[in-house]
Amino acid sequence: MSILLKASDLKTPMSASDLFSRTGPLVFEVGFGDGRYLEHLASANPEWNLVGAEVSLGSVWRAYRRMNRSGIREVRLFKGNARFLVRDVFEEGSLDRVFVNFPDPWPRKKHLKNRLLQVPFFQILSSRLKPGGSLFLTTDHPEYFEFSVQQGQESLCFDVIQGPPPPATLETKYARKWRDQQKPIFHAEFRCHTVIPSAPRPISSIEMQHATLKGSLENVGPFTKQVRRFEGGHAFVMEAYRELDSQGLLFKVISEEQDFRQELLIQAWPKKDGVYVSLQPFGDPMTTKGVREAVLAVTDWLVSQGLELDQTWV
Ligand SMILES: C[S@@+](CC[C@H](N)C(=O)[O-])C[C@H]1O[C@@H](n2cnc3c(N)ncnc32)[C@H](O)[C@@H]1O
Repeated sequence: MSILLKASDLKTPMSASDLFSRTGPLVFEVGFGDGRYLEHLASANPEWNLVGAEVSLGSVWRAYRRMNRSGIREVRLFKGNARFLVRDVFEEGSLDRVFVNFPDPWPRKKHLKNRLLQVPFFQILSSRLKPGGSLFLTTDHPEYFEFSVQQGQESLCFDVIQGPPPPATLETKYARKWRDQQKPIFHAEFRCHTVIPSAPRPISSIEMQHATLKGSLENVGPFTKQVRRFEGGHAFVMEAYRELDSQGLLFKVISEEQDFRQELLIQAWPKKDGVYVSLQPFGDPMTTKGVREAVLAVTDWLVSQGLELDQTWV
């Protein structure tokens, strides 16, 4: 498996042995930025199996290049939301440690809901950690620090042990920035003492996702953005393109299923007895309910353009 985790590599849930072909402590870093801390962990603890999640594509590439330069193989980099991996991907009782260095503090009141370290997250994490496993937080933000400590305690799952930050956490890109500004840095270990059982939510994997319609694609349009709401998420049909080498159409669709976001390409093309709509494998998507809904969103739009639904296999 490549060190870059693609959505199509993921299973829900996924064991450590699905991710790594060797045994060893499973350690997760949230928001790894340029990957400096993961690089440190890998060289200081060569027996650890490291997984990192990061929402910024630019940061994922910086970290990927860093791992390649250093020859680090026992790491998996996921571009996406850490919340998704914790809730849906990591098996119960699989994680040894979690590191969160300088998380985005979301200081404005209306953005507080975006903070990761809140009671529901701590409670889910309690069952993904091994017994006695810990989350380690280092931050420059006193208010987020206090908030996280309070939320960890309110979760009733963690003992919070405050102390000086481990030296290596003071060498990340953001740590250096704050250190240069002589800002104080705060650190705590959240050690799990009580587990609230909650199994990962399996994201159904559906093989056949297509539809057929009667009619022609020749005169459809103009196109406007379409939104399809479904239980657990949304599918946004953002744009439609005509293919130059055929009569087909391509649709760019974003599916959002809680914290799991995918960019999808759905194709509609003429066949001798009608029009066929299906997911393209471009970008290695995970075939989730969101993909099925994306096919249905495109199908609905084509029906609104005068085509007639024949059959769906979704
Ligand atoms: C302030 S930066 C710190 C980066 C790095 N840890 C460091 O110390 O240099 C916060 C990082 O977390 C990432 N991030 C924020 N929310 C996230 C989430 N829910 N899942 C994964 N990454 C996230 C951001 O893209 C950003 O790179």
